[in-house]
Amino acid sequence: MSETILTMDKVNSYYGESQILFDLSLTVHKSDSVCILGRNGVGKSTTMKSIMGLLNPKNHNKVTGIIRYLGKELVGMPSYKIARSGIGYVPQGRHIFPTLTTKENLIIAEKKAVDGSQPWTFERIYELFPRLKERENFLGGRLSGGEQQMLTVARGLMQNPDLLLLDEITEGLAPIVVKELGEIINELRKSGVTILLAEQNVNFALAVSSYCYIVEKGAIVYEGSTKDTPKATFAQYLGL
Ligand SMILES: Nc1ncnc2c1ncn2[C@@H]1O[C@H](COP(=O)(O)OP(=O)(O)OP(=O)(O)O)[C@@H](O)[C@H]1O
Ligand SMILES: [Mg+2]
Repeated sequence: MSETILTMDKVNSYYGESQILFDLSLTVHKSDSVCILGRNGVGKSTTMKSIMGLLNPKNHNKVTGIIRYLGKELVGMPSYKIARSGIGYVPQGRHIFPTLTTKENLIIAEKKAVDGSQPWTFERIYELFPRLKERENFLGGRLSGGEQQMLTVARGLMQNPDLLLLDEITEGLAPIVVKELGEIINELRKSGVTILLAEQNVNFALAVSSYCYIVEKGAIVYEGSTKDTPKATFAQYLGL
């Protein structure tokens, strides 16, 4: 078994009085692609936000339990420090700058890895996303939904992360674009990037991850290797 990158151990997350995550535990190993599957509103984004330190206690939010990333304890750490520790986060909802060009959107995301290296150069990003190269001088707001989503993933990579969090990157995209995005994620996996993704799209998740957790009402109800999990299990929890 390869090195552990991220561990969540009995994490409970709250927005004010309402508890959203219940003793949620998961592990991500180096160079693995792990997926959190679940229907609307089960707590997938809250899991990602808990990792990134985005449940601000000033707004009466709270996270308890252990979230350990490369040996560092993240619970209680300010979010800017978590972002600097090498986690690339692509939040749900295609947040790009509409009035900047594709290239400018990439430039402002550029950051060296924690160890000072910069494996993700423009050339490599454009090789992975030829469509972004073609649209280099288009304003972000003029890109199609699929291109915008590719741009958010590319921006995540510009940070040269040790771990990439992808929150529902297939949301609202046409099947053909989802397929294209899947091929890109699988290219990324070949290059050894460690990925944790949240998805509702079961077929996409199965195509791009090797291990999955199914969440219902903020708790893990199933976990297993994607290839050994019978389709019936996904159908049971998620419908297909
Ligand atoms: N800032 C917030 N304050 C209060 N409740 C919230 C907040 N954000 C999310 N919630 C609630 O927490 C629950 C989990 O939301 P979350 O966004 O984590 O779900 P999700 O699995 O990502 O759903 P989706 O698939 O729709 O993105 C939902 O009931 C939601 O209404
Ligand atoms: Mg979500």
